[in-house]
Amino acid sequence: MAVQAPKKRLDARAIRADFPIFEQLIHGQPLAFLDSAASSQKPRQMLEEMTEFYSTSYANVHRGVYVLAERATAALEGAREKVRALVNAPDVREIIFVRNATEAINLVAYSWGLNNLGPGDLVVVTELEHHSNFVPWQYIAGRTGAKLAMIPLTDEGELDLSGLDAIAAQGQIKVVATNQVSNSLGTINPVEKLVAWAHDQGAIFVCDAAQSAPHMTVDVQALGADFVAISAHKMCGPSGVGALWGRTELLRAMEPFLLGGHMINSVRLEKTTWGELPHKFEAGTAPMAEAVGFGAAIDYLQAIGFDAIEAYEHELAAYALGRLGELDGLTLYGPPADRRAGIVSFNVEGVHPHDVAQILDMQGVAIRAGHHCCQPLMQKLGVAATNRASFYLYTVREEIDQLVEGLHTVRKVFA
Ligand SMILES: Cc1ncc(COP(=O)(O)O)c(C=O)c1O
Repeated sequence: MAVQAPKKRLDARAIRADFPIFEQLIHGQPLAFLDSAASSQKPRQMLEEMTEFYSTSYANVHRGVYVLAERATAALEGAREKVRALVNAPDVREIIFVRNATEAINLVAYSWGLNNLGPGDLVVVTELEHHSNFVPWQYIAGRTGAKLAMIPLTDEGELDLSGLDAIAAQGQIKVVATNQVSNSLGTINPVEKLVAWAHDQGAIFVCDAAQSAPHMTVDVQALGADFVAISAHKMCGPSGVGALWGRTELLRAMEPFLLGGHMINSVRLEKTTWGELPHKFEAGTAPMAEAVGFGAAIDYLQAIGFDAIEAYEHELAAYALGRLGELDGLTLYGPPADRRAGIVSFNVEGVHPHDVAQILDMQGVAIRAGHHCCQPLMQKLGVAATNRASFYLYTVREEIDQLVEGLHTVRKVFA
């Protein structure tokens, strides 16, 4: 019998020391940063690599023949290769740099959707989608005469797949677009199953991996999806850059999304022709330093290991659900800990989520309050908003304890 190597456990306290943001007090308290699902904090290693790029290698890319332009181009293309390796894409030209996951999904919705959807067609999303994977599809469906259909949720906040046949009977499914991990409830969705179903219907599958790629291995080949969208800022990278992965044959057949410099092959008065992948989809000056930072963030996360990150966050979710469960008058949303990522949504009875978040802030605890860009989900839950605490590789249990202490104070203030 093969002996399994012991799994590497993550040392959150050592990792935390890499993040300068934690060196300060907030309202005189240690910072309990529980809003990583909105955007993660940044390690020194990533910040230093961006500074190094700006200090030693900065120039516009692709256009110059001088040393700095060549260095900058190599840095940008090196970062693209890191993204390719991160998601195990078969070809580096399938990695398109975009501003964020939202832009990645809009690119697909506009460039693929406008030319491939029409009356009688269905676009299938879920009640669990972030607006970024809902509004573009709703809009493009409206523009093309296609219909939008929703996969509903169970009471535990998981996708209810029992009605898939009924959805398929409503029209010709052309697109299935879902997230892999819900930003509101932390639900881990059965994406492989949905990819297989989408392909059985002759549809493409668009995976919103904004909340999964920072926390677990996302392998586009294993997943079998057709497009995958990610944002760097949620995974220790800078804001302003993300990536779309798409299958070569689909990307090649698509019209460009943004038009202008760099994305062309030739421009004549009569006609402009498009450049090759990935440039066809990268009009204008690239997010060069941001891409370098993205690459550095990927190096950082990979050195720690996605298996270790995922396992650690499961532990944190279980711990948080246990501790929050001790509080009276608290409603918890979403599935049990073993079926969710490091995100916990809740409401305190009789207290508006914004008031909860404000009182917590006075105690150094940063959580999110609102609809989390998931209004269809809030409608389903029958609430206008929730509080959300979300964790990452630098989160320590003391921060969750600080949250629970803070919630006791909320209860006292509003008693
Ligand atoms: C599941 C999910 N999809 C998409 C997005 C959009 O990401 P971005 O704002 O980086 O475009 C988010 C951001 O919170 C998200 O959580």
